[in-house]
Amino acid sequence: MLSKEVIKKLNEQVVKEMSASNLYLNMSSWCYTHRYDGAGLFLFEHAKEENSHATKLITYLNETDSLLTLDKIDKPESNFKSLLDVFERTYEHELKVTKSINELVELAFTTKDYSTFNFLQWYVAEQHEEETLFRGIKDKIKLAGDSDTSLYLIDQYIKGLAGQ
Ligand SMILES: [Fe+2]
Repeated sequence: MLSKEVIKKLNEQVVKEMSASNLYLNMSSWCYTHRYDGAGLFLFEHAKEENSHATKLITYLNETDSLLTLDKIDKPESNFKSLLDVFERTYEHELKVTKSINELVELAFTTKDYSTFNFLQWYVAEQHEEETLFRGIKDKIKLAGDSDTSLYLIDQYIKGLAGQ
């Protein structure tokens, strides 16, 4: 049996993962409409991954006889200045998610909820991967510069990362 506070925070995390999924869908669409098909595909695939993070949490709530009480999901940003702007924002977003996961881990640990603490370790490892992935993309866009040729090559590079 999970505590009310842990159930509340897990529910909030579900909404955050769904919100990340929606943001990445908007970003994917922005990329496609600006001819960055590689980044569009990458973000489309990544949106699905964020949705799976939400459903994994929901399964855990179901397994622990805890009620899912979805809250509204904020409207995600849809206007971006450039490909670099998109990936700077993805990185910032992942940092926020990491902070939120860390708070959940701390709550589980301090309230001696070792089942949730153990369950959350998957998210801790995942956030490490996500931060590394998005920081890498953001830094490579910066390195490549903003000529049409380098942006085309960067978009091809990002396409190669789709599904990760
Ligand atoms: Fe996530």
